Amino acid sequence: MSETSAASAAELRAALVRALREARRITSPQVTEAFAAVPRHVFLPGTGLEDAYRDDAVFTKRAADGRPLSSVSAPWLVATMLERLAPRAGDRVLEVGSGGYNAALLRHVVGSTGSVTSMDIDPDVTGRAEVCLKQAGFSDVRLVTGDGTTGVPDGFPYDRLVVTVQATEIASAWLDQLTGDGRMVVPMRLRGLGRLLTFTRERAGLWRGDGWEQCGFVAMQGPGARDPVATAVLADGVRLRWDGGAAPDPVRLATAFRAEGREVWSGVTVTATEGSRAVLDLWLATTLDAFGRLHTSSSAVPQVLPGGTPATWGPDTLAYLVMRPVHGDATRFEYGVAWHGSDAGVAEAVAEQLRAWDRDHRGGPGPVLYIGAASDDEATCVRRMSERSGPRLVLAWPRSAACSGPRL
Ligand SMILES: C[S@@+](CC[C@H](N)C(=O)[O-])C[C@H]1O[C@@H](n2cnc3c(N)ncnc32)[C@H](O)[C@@H]1O
Repeated sequence: MSETSAASAAELRAALVRALREARRITSPQVTEAFAAVPRHVFLPGTGLEDAYRDDAVFTKRAADGRPLSSVSAPWLVATMLERLAPRAGDRVLEVGSGGYNAALLRHVVGSTGSVTSMDIDPDVTGRAEVCLKQAGFSDVRLVTGDGTTGVPDGFPYDRLVVTVQATEIASAWLDQLTGDGRMVVPMRLRGLGRLLTFTRERAGLWRGDGWEQCGFVAMQGPGARDPVATAVLADGVRLRWDGGAAPDPVRLATAFRAEGREVWSGVTVTATEGSRAVLDLWLATTLDAFGRLHTSSSAVPQVLPGGTPATWGPDTLAYLVMRPVHGDATRFEYGVAWHGSDAGVAEAVAEQLRAWDRDHRGGPGPVLYIGAASDDEATCVRRMSERSGPRLVLAWPRSAACSGPRL
């Protein structure tokens, strides 16, 4: 690299660190120093310097059908995960899902008395990461090729474990390989919602996860792979997506959707900057048995909310979350429910849950995702999230007023 481009890489890196600090994605001195020191462009050969220091993911491998298989994750997300993981000097860290960049940042934070093991199911990825890590001066990161759901038994216990691929379950091996006061950060798909969870051990046999930042990741491959989120096309440019729970009948819902839409308003108003959706969507995913998200091009159904609006259904009725401005107050919006079909009760049930969230949980600590058995003492409103092989996952809302949602 020429002297000029080395200088501009350093300037671009410094600008990225400033932006991440201003956005409060980086908050600690350790993570600041690591981001300032590790040259991201070295992990992205063939990508221009400007793009290497843009706050975006760069896809490094795709399947034949175009699906992304591997990437160097977006700096804002890498920074958020590092801050949540809170690695300390001297820690042993296991990263599931490699790329090299995050492993180098981790290596910088844990220092010469710590260690970093980075594993990936794809030998192309570990091979590439090894070359880039060496080039960036981090040749002592241990790279392992294999399925991440087994962890890396040779080398445990780990003080910190970070998963950088989307999981739908928690592998028992991850819990078994962590120290008693270990910490684990996992991007999860829960009823189709992508959320970042930070887990700590509450007591023997019970782990507690929270955080809930919205995030997307490439899907897990190998034995931990799960069906993609199911999709049905209801009309031109209108898709309903759901992930477990009561499945819709797409043909009947498409017919319902052609009927004229009606609306029910909840009386619950929020400010545009309150950021209520991240938690509200989780509340609806907990309390509605039929839960999915409606995605549209804005011209198809203009009132559908960005990023996919929470939706529910009955046999012949589709209902979904909408907002309208509050008359005379440009800063506030009211939540409501648009519905098509024959059963007004489907929309009323959503409106009732909007009011329950407003009354019992708005502005509160939010839910906890327990791994293991959460008892009724710890929560009133719960939903079991994993039906498959791994440890039991229970999404639980703190005890407050009576909860009209399902119980264990
Ligand atoms: C988003 S990339 C990781 C990004 C990386 N940590 C970085 O430094 O930016 C996700 C990686 O997970 C890997 N992966 C997918 N399924 C896996 C599995 N079962 N075990 C281990 N790695 C897996 C993919 O091959 C891909 O390289």
